[in-house]
Amino acid sequence: MIENIDKIKATAIELISKALSTKELEEIRVNFLGKKGELTSVLKTLGSLSVEDRPKAGALVNEAKNSIEQILDETISNIKNKELNTLFLNEKIDITLPGRRGNKGSKHPLRKVLEEIEEIFLGLGFSIEEGPEIDTDFNTFKALNFQDDHPARDSQDTLYVNKDILFRTHTSPVQIRTMNKMHPEPVRIICPGRVYRRDAIDPTHSPQFHQVEGLIVDKDVQFSDLIGTLEIFAKKLFGETKKIRVRPSFFPFTEPSAEVDVTCIFCDGKGCGFCKHTGWLEVLGAGAVHPNVLRMSGYDPEIYTGFAFGMGLDRITALKYRVNDIRYFFENDIRFLKQFN
Ligand code: PHE
Repeated sequence: MIENIDKIKATAIELISKALSTKELEEIRVNFLGKKGELTSVLKTLGSLSVEDRPKAGALVNEAKNSIEQILDETISNIKNKELNTLFLNEKIDITLPGRRGNKGSKHPLRKVLEEIEEIFLGLGFSIEEGPEIDTDFNTFKALNFQDDHPARDSQDTLYVNKDILFRTHTSPVQIRTMNKMHPEPVRIICPGRVYRRDAIDPTHSPQFHQVEGLIVDKDVQFSDLIGTLEIFAKKLFGETKKIRVRPSFFPFTEPSAEVDVTCIFCDGKGCGFCKHTGWLEVLGAGAVHPNVLRMSGYDPEIYTGFAFGMGLDRITALKYRVNDIRYFFENDIRFLKQFN
């Protein structure tokens, strides 16, 4: 029996020394020390020994059990350390590697300039209104005092959905919508948005482009308020050295009407090829709201006066960033758009 115990111990120790994982070692523990393990079965046979031999054999089994346990525990903790070390090594992050740059998006130039414009007018007490891109003939033309035979109403110029519904050709119908909603309260709004015209695409034209409309309706407002507002606007957007100039013009919904020019941004007014040596660039249309328009939208023209203006966002953005072809704004070429970060 003593031999047997020694053999069991030697086998166990050898197996332990060969084991590669904590799992294998736990199996060895069960096989040798567990309830049905080899040493336990030896213990069970102690009863067959003589009374003198029993304590000796018992002590031997215990000693074997203890040393197997001790070796097992040591080996397990060694292997655990090794396992942890390889785990840490595999999970190690090389913090000296340069990081990957995220592909950051940027604002579209039209959006950037629109936000600047909105900021300027919000600062002057305007609020922002929006209207649908598809509107009625009534809001787009009739309520804006267009005669029935006005060329803009021709399907050569306007995209119609049907006789009464069309793609708005300007943001001015939002004037009508806002006045209908607000009267007889005063109005001080800008409305940005997309507009559509049956134009062929070229460097300065597109069938879909953007406008920013402005409208003031109140009791004591005068033409000089409009000029003052537009002057502040031009200086803030294009630079403090800029001035504006007003030339007579015609729109069915304003009377008097004006084209508003700003000092040429290329030559600062000295005259260059871009401004055709005038020193001025045309940037917006404006005027006093026609009494018919006020009346049709619920304001008494004897009590209220109104001023409106409208500008092309694409043209203004092209001027501000010196882009010579507005088609770049619609093509979404990432190399172009990335320049406006
Ligand atoms: N709606 C005009 C256009 O599209 C611009 C404009 C707006 C003119 C408001 C005067 C007042 O050309």
